Amino acid sequence: MSFQAPKLIENTWSDEEVAELQERFARAPAVDLLRWAFDKFGNRVAFASSFGLEDVVLIDLIAKEGVPIRIFTLDTGRLHQETYDVMARIRARYGLDLEVYFPNGERVEELVREKGPNSFYESRENRQECCFVRKIEPLKRALSTCDAWITGLRRDQNVTRQETPKIEVDRGNGNILKINPLADWSEDDIAAHIEARDVPYNELHDKGFPSIGCAPCTRAIEPGEHPRAGRWWWEKPESKECGLHTE
Ligand code: ADX
Ligand code: SF4
Repeated sequence: MSFQAPKLIENTWSDEEVAELQERFARAPAVDLLRWAFDKFGNRVAFASSFGLEDVVLIDLIAKEGVPIRIFTLDTGRLHQETYDVMARIRARYGLDLEVYFPNGERVEELVREKGPNSFYESRENRQECCFVRKIEPLKRALSTCDAWITGLRRDQNVTRQETPKIEVDRGNGNILKINPLADWSEDDIAAHIEARDVPYNELHDKGFPSIGCAPCTRAIEPGEHPRAGRWWWEKPESKECGLHTE
């Protein structure tokens, strides 16, 4: 059963409060943000994990520092077997209780009945519709238990993410806080942490998949290609967002 946290904080962050927090944490280590988030929000903050490289680093930091932040994942029903494998290894390694949100069964049945199992290849609208049913609606259910959420977003992941702050107000999700502790980490910082701490990671990363989403919408990249080139590879870079991180 999914966790239902009581709603206690009014999500009316002023621009001044947010600017103050941004300045306070601009150069702070990721763990400082994790600790602050848990102290402030308790079980009303949760980390959204897809078990990508950034996410396993955050899970390692959460476990290592003993900050008992809730962790949830959105299982779209179209993930790679390797993603389920790393999920299982992470559970075993850290003994974590992961919250898993699935899409609404009736909406998936309706979508597939009307448009077939691969509608996302046919148009951007169809792709966004599938992302909405399989990711965004479950995300909104997860966030209905939160006054803040944590992500593994980094600035250098994509053109759409260059301005990602460490802390922002999520206008698309009820003005709750969105916390991105690794916003200023580089790809090398992530790799170094994983190696130093022997953190379990998705085997697909060793097979040419730097960024991993759903199986039918992710391919391996060629040497020299942008790390997100394999995500929705048939679309332009500026539209390569599923809606989790756009208003
Ligand atoms: S996506 O929007 O293109 O799919 P990306 O794969 O780069 O996002 O991941 C960025 C961050 O979004 C992750 O670090 C994680 O916090 C969150 N995220 C992405 N996919 C999921 C998922 N399936 N479940 C939970 N969180 C996710
Ligand atoms: Fe659907 Fe592809 Fe979006 Fe996954 S990434 S929810 S399969 S369109």
